[in-house]
Amino acid sequence: MTSMDFSEKNNVRFRLKSARLRLEACGIETAELDARLLLAHILGCAPMDIYLQQDRVLTNNEGEAFDQLLNRRVKREPVSQILGQKEFWSLSFKVTRDVLTPRPDSETLIEVALGRIKDRTAPLRILDLGTGSGCLLLALLSELPRARGIGVDISPAALDVARENAERLGFSDRTTFYESDWTTALNPAEKFDIILSNPPYIALSEQASLPPDVRLYEPEQALYSGEEGLDDYRKLIEQLPGFLQPNGFILFEIGAGQASDLENILRHAGASAVEIFKDLAGLDRCICWKP
Ligand SMILES: C[S@@+](CC[C@H](N)C(=O)[O-])C[C@H]1O[C@@H](n2cnc3c(N)ncnc32)[C@H](O)[C@@H]1O
Repeated sequence: MTSMDFSEKNNVRFRLKSARLRLEACGIETAELDARLLLAHILGCAPMDIYLQQDRVLTNNEGEAFDQLLNRRVKREPVSQILGQKEFWSLSFKVTRDVLTPRPDSETLIEVALGRIKDRTAPLRILDLGTGSGCLLLALLSELPRARGIGVDISPAALDVARENAERLGFSDRTTFYESDWTTALNPAEKFDIILSNPPYIALSEQASLPPDVRLYEPEQALYSGEEGLDDYRKLIEQLPGFLQPNGFILFEIGAGQASDLENILRHAGASAVEIFKDLAGLDRCICWKP
């Protein structure tokens, strides 16, 4: 092999293209993006800057390290878990196998919450149920300088990640995290201005049809909620009313096709002011209600 051959086969352009083809052949829809994110990680640059370095030749070490990450992605490990982080609301969150990877769709809850708050400097109290990585609570705190929040989760391992994210993002002094089966460990006298939750909402019957990235790598207790995916909503709707301030509101993330079921359950429970909000893809993503 001439030195020319080596540079051509190991430059960023060639390695990105062959990585994309390899990931596409495995049925990965985000092959191009994933290849770019993984290579940018190896090269220590921003993903967009990869395009400015097309002729850069990878060292042997860089090439091997890139191959190792690609091998993990081929087995469908999510990029967020390979890199150990995911951006949400322009903040970087630590991600492990113990937490759901924050999804851009969930930013709808942050937008809806912020849109309903009249005074962002008020000392609001927030409750985030099923906090996982802490992304919802911490994103809200980043916009509400005097707010404080409680994050609860049934998973101690997820709570460790949430606490670390709070620390890394500088919100430890405004957050408390509790291990709790929904509200059971909370003081019943506590009242909150904003209650939000992205609970598990996938029907058990859908398990087999989930992409392997989700089914094999994300925590089961973050995903499934009974035969129809509605069990945890039902529990929360029963438990939450006593925890809300009179002018407060409750937000749930909802899955595709769940809006009308949720509306019915809420109306039966006597809820008022039920509103549905769509995400950027035009899908019903968030339901806002008051008891
Ligand atoms: C869909 S994930 C949401 C994580 C994070 N809030 C987000 O939006 O990315 C649901 C979370 O609820 C937690 N969870 C499941 N059942 C729970 C329960 N009974 N009580 C408290 N948390 C629970 C899971 O451990 C998981 O972290």
